[in-house]
Amino acid sequence: MCGIIGYIGSQDAYPILIQGLRRLEYRGYDSAGVALARQDGSLAVYKARGKVDNLETVASARDTSGNAGIAHTRWATHGEPNDTNAHPHTSQSGRIAIVHNGTIENYAVLREALAQHGFTFKSETDTEVLAQLIEYVQNENHCDLVEAVREALLQVEGAYAIVVTEQGRPDRLIAARKSSPLVIGVGDDETFLASDATPIVGFTDQVVYLKDNELAIIERGKPLQIKSLDTDEPSDIDIQPLKMSVAQLEKGGYDAFMLKEIFEQPSTLLDCLRGRITDDCSRVVLSGVVENAERFLQAHRIVIVACGTSWHAALIGKRVIQELCKIPVEVEYASEFRYGNPMIGKNDIVIAISQSGETADTLAAIQLAREKGAWVYGICNVVGASIPRNTDSGTYIHVGPEIGVASTKAFTGQVTVLTLLALCAGQIRGTVSREKVREVAQALMKMPETIKEVLKLDGPIRQLSRMFTYAHNFLYLGRGYNYPTALEGALKLKEISYIHAEGYPAAEMKHGPIALIDREMPTVIIAPNDSLYDKIVSNVEQVKSRGGSVIAIVNPGNDKMERLADCCLEVPEVPECLTPIVSSIPLQLLAYYIAVNKGKDVDRPRNLAKSVTVE
Ligand code: AGP
Repeated sequence: MCGIIGYIGSQDAYPILIQGLRRLEYRGYDSAGVALARQDGSLAVYKARGKVDNLETVASARDTSGNAGIAHTRWATHGEPNDTNAHPHTSQSGRIAIVHNGTIENYAVLREALAQHGFTFKSETDTEVLAQLIEYVQNENHCDLVEAVREALLQVEGAYAIVVTEQGRPDRLIAARKSSPLVIGVGDDETFLASDATPIVGFTDQVVYLKDNELAIIERGKPLQIKSLDTDEPSDIDIQPLKMSVAQLEKGGYDAFMLKEIFEQPSTLLDCLRGRITDDCSRVVLSGVVENAERFLQAHRIVIVACGTSWHAALIGKRVIQELCKIPVEVEYASEFRYGNPMIGKNDIVIAISQSGETADTLAAIQLAREKGAWVYGICNVVGASIPRNTDSGTYIHVGPEIGVASTKAFTGQVTVLTLLALCAGQIRGTVSREKVREVAQALMKMPETIKEVLKLDGPIRQLSRMFTYAHNFLYLGRGYNYPTALEGALKLKEISYIHAEGYPAAEMKHGPIALIDREMPTVIIAPNDSLYDKIVSNVEQVKSRGGSVIAIVNPGNDKMERLADCCLEVPEVPECLTPIVSSIPLQLLAYYIAVNKGKDVDRPRNLAKSVTVE
């Protein structure tokens, strides 16, 4: 989950690379580096531990000329975050420089073999081994760098997206990918390469998504070449339009991308719903489902695989699909699924949920499901990402780029699409009434306005958050549709404030967790006016009777809870299956403000990255 970028063209490369790193920094920020290919044929490499600001401090005091270069922002997989392990890595002679996103699984064997041939290593990284291997192959075969890169990669096991430059060739960059993403931006006499499209936005809207096992050769004044790594034969070049604006990538006046993305949810849900519900709310039309109606009619079971927040959305999807489609649904962590020898076959539909569309565990789960004969449906946010290109069909959530590491608008988008899928498949299977479709569809169409109401809690939640800045533990409780909401609220808090937080089914309290309750342990309870309201009221009584403080997410007319809880945050009443959407937003705001109160870097929390493209 690092970010890599390359540029070659008529402009100075350095400012473009630095800006690109800033846009990729959400993918990892343990260290950063740049290699510039100067017109005199020399390579200048600058690296620094920490964020891109540190790199800029180091490099701006040096010569940053050159019209070509590569750069990298790192999330450490091999070797601790320091200058030595920072990318770009160079070969023994210093002639070749490389940036890499991924994990080379057989790097230790390769390193040992290279050491036998006299190679020494400065860093602990797998990437330096690849740089040395490329040099070794070139020296042994007396071949051009393109051939050396290809031959070296054929010896590599694992995942990579790389960009390579060399001394004496400021007119050429070489790139390749396997399992890690790489996008090529094709401009006028200039070419951009990046882990995703964000650094390219504003420079060109023509992009090529490099496919697995492809190698690209970018030479000034020559057309882009793409070849198969395996056969060395030319590949088709599929140039696609890039539909992303610079405004979408900027904070738009908000203090953090996360806050911007929380407040974007009224409009992002509108985008997510657009064209998918008929004007009279009588029907839901999700093209991926309608075009594969037979699949949804015949399926014996649905298995949903995902990670993190997407897994929480999956748990909600399980409930709404079972309720509306009367089909058994199982939910698996993608990482557990891929190693669990799942009993999956041709009568199963596997749904893979991923905001980034690049999560390695989810991608691997998809590949395993397909090998076992299942039909795979993707629910993703990033158009053209690896997961949408490896599924049989799917739906984009269309909530726009999500930059904040903590997922917010993607979560509500995922839950919305899962509800649309359940309604659409339920219509096809004849298991959902027209009244139910209308009830939920109308509530969804009103959802943007509903969320605007919820966002009015911003001030009160900001105020409330001050009481909990120094809490060390939090408990989040919910039932039914809102047990996953409790899990999601806990994850939001822990991943940006570093406060330990646990989500639990409220009924489980008496089976252990209630021992945790005391005055130091705040409890957040999601308590909408649903079928389980009275049960959750008794859970609150249990917590209060042991001295715990309670924040309750409630609907209007919740007199009992008003009397019991220390603080009630009121959200509009919606159909039960939609309560996670409205209830999760106050929890996003609570986590955000507590983290801000604690002075944390909300958009780039420690140890994390936005897209987990390694195991
Ligand atoms: C959510 O806030 C986290 N950033 C993380 O759990 C994330 O949901 C998970 O890594 C899955 O990412 P994906 O949706 O891009 O596959």
